[in-house]
Amino acid sequence: MNFIPAEKTSFLQEVVLGLSNRPKRLTPKWFYDKRGAKLFEQICDLPEYYLTRSESSILETAAVEISEYLGPEVILIEYGSGAMSKVRTLLDSLDKPQALIAIDVADEQLLQASDTLGVEYSDLTVHPIVGDFTSSFDLPLWASAGKRLCAFFPGSTIGNFEPDDAEVLLRSMHNVVGHGGAAIIGVDLKKDKSVLEAAYNDASGISEKFNKNLLDRINRELKGNAQLDQFKHIAPYNEDKGRIEMHLVSLCEQMLTVSNYHFPLKPNETIHTENSYKYTVEEFQALAKSASFAPTAVWVDENQLFSVHLLTRA
Ligand SMILES: C[S@@+](CC[C@H](N)C(=O)[O-])C[C@H]1O[C@@H](n2cnc3c(N)ncnc32)[C@H](O)[C@@H]1O
Repeated sequence: MNFIPAEKTSFLQEVVLGLSNRPKRLTPKWFYDKRGAKLFEQICDLPEYYLTRSESSILETAAVEISEYLGPEVILIEYGSGAMSKVRTLLDSLDKPQALIAIDVADEQLLQASDTLGVEYSDLTVHPIVGDFTSSFDLPLWASAGKRLCAFFPGSTIGNFEPDDAEVLLRSMHNVVGHGGAAIIGVDLKKDKSVLEAAYNDASGISEKFNKNLLDRINRELKGNAQLDQFKHIAPYNEDKGRIEMHLVSLCEQMLTVSNYHFPLKPNETIHTENSYKYTVEEFQALAKSASFAPTAVWVDENQLFSVHLLTRA
């Protein structure tokens, strides 16, 4: 019997929908099961993956200024919180932060990271929400009691969305933070193709393992039959669209089975697993304005690799 537990049905539905598409697609939010989250942490430490180092250094430099902009007793809402390492820099410099509400689909990592943070910051209320931040989610009642809310969305995860969808997400964030609210968004900058491609095609092959783990997860959780050695990881920079595209390329003619569904693949046919859009400072500010945010400050590292934007409600 091909039984898939109820909590996996949205994963199954999205996988079936994506693999029925032309070209075949999978959604990057499913990368982060326990193994995927660990692999992503390894990616963050890779010499080629400048994103995490650059963003962390910007946050360290800008933390005091950010704290002055936001004022005391802020409630942070972290979107796609992952290991929650960068938020510590903000918490350390903010004046009496009241709470961290963290939302992520990766349930195991979210709950574990929330527990650890709650112990380290014993005066802080840490409130995890397991869920998809592109759908509506309920804030706890105490978060709507006149405190300043600030969304924190690091990691350039905003780049995983088509620009139109990124605008919709920023609009929803604008509603969530409410009157007087703000948002701090980490955005990867456009730059030389060779630097970008190296970051997503590291020499030690961790990005490849991360990409292929999506198939492995489908095998484990959705009764898939993917043979990982029959796929190749590629991540070219599409200069026209301003995005890195991650794909898994089929190395032969094969039939991919997921639960009771069958998907034929031709040699060289790709499954598109992720886009990572890059923005200039001006492009991202225009996007933020179209979502009704006022671009209020922006910080860029000394190598001009990454940007952190402070947006406020106009
Ligand atoms: C690129 S990682 C960034 C992790 C961390 N914020 C950082 O900066 O290192 C993306 C994170 O967002 C989460 N995520 C991606 N799409 C999501 C969605 N639609 N809803 C909730 N979480 C999502 C993933 O599970 C993962 O933890």
